Amino acid sequence: MRPDAEAVAALAAELMASRIRANPGSVLGLATGRTMERVYDRLAAMDLDFSNCRSFNLDEYIGVPAQDEHSYRHYMDEHLFRRVNIVRANTHVPDGMAADLGAEAARYERLIREAGGIDVQLLGIGEAGHIGFNEPLSALMSRTREKALTPVTRRQNAAMFGGDPDRVPARALTMGVGTILEARELLLLATGPAKAEIVAKAVEGPITAMISASALQLHPRCKVVLDEAAASSLTQREYYDWVFQNEPEWEGYRQS
Ligand code: GLP
Repeated sequence: MRPDAEAVAALAAELMASRIRANPGSVLGLATGRTMERVYDRLAAMDLDFSNCRSFNLDEYIGVPAQDEHSYRHYMDEHLFRRVNIVRANTHVPDGMAADLGAEAARYERLIREAGGIDVQLLGIGEAGHIGFNEPLSALMSRTREKALTPVTRRQNAAMFGGDPDRVPARALTMGVGTILEARELLLLATGPAKAEIVAKAVEGPITAMISASALQLHPRCKVVLDEAAASSLTQREYYDWVFQNEPEWEGYRQS
């Protein structure tokens, strides 16, 4: 639990940076969304060496060309890749313009496998509980595939499309819940009051395909970093605070 969104971003950037310093050839799993913008701002300002890193993004809209300002490829280029020394050819975002989306999904899975799997995966959470674009009822063992977006998600992302949910693409290519769970470490971030209820369900509720983020409970190395507003519906707050203040793995992160 951190006081605000800036502190969440600071801690997340510190964690990512420590992984990159420890393993300069890290395979990074990256995410998009407003929450991540501050994280990328901080990573870009940290003078880290990304030259041996590879990256895989969670998802991409279908039918939006890479150079379009609404594509997640464009988002990543702008917010991170052009600001650090990562080799662009080593950055991967699913191709939402592929003629054969099934083949593209299979290719993406193969690339992740060939890279040796993802070392650390950043995740945001949608108001419908999605991670990536794994909308409600996504199979907990799902792999990268095409997914139809829920009205909740299209409304949530409308701000990036001139406020009009109908302009938000109806479909996306996304890593599956099963793909995400294979990353060696997961880091979920959420900020703001709009996420409080879904965060509580995902973290403390039963594991259910209705809330993809609840599947993170199955992962042995998953960290959740929240600001006060996003944490406000959790019931075991006292315990989480104790863990953060006392457990050695959080040492060095308490001031960020
Ligand atoms: C999009 C992405 C998700 C992300 C979500 C959160 O829907 N596909 O991966 O978790 O946005 O967005 P924000 O950080 O803007 O709340």
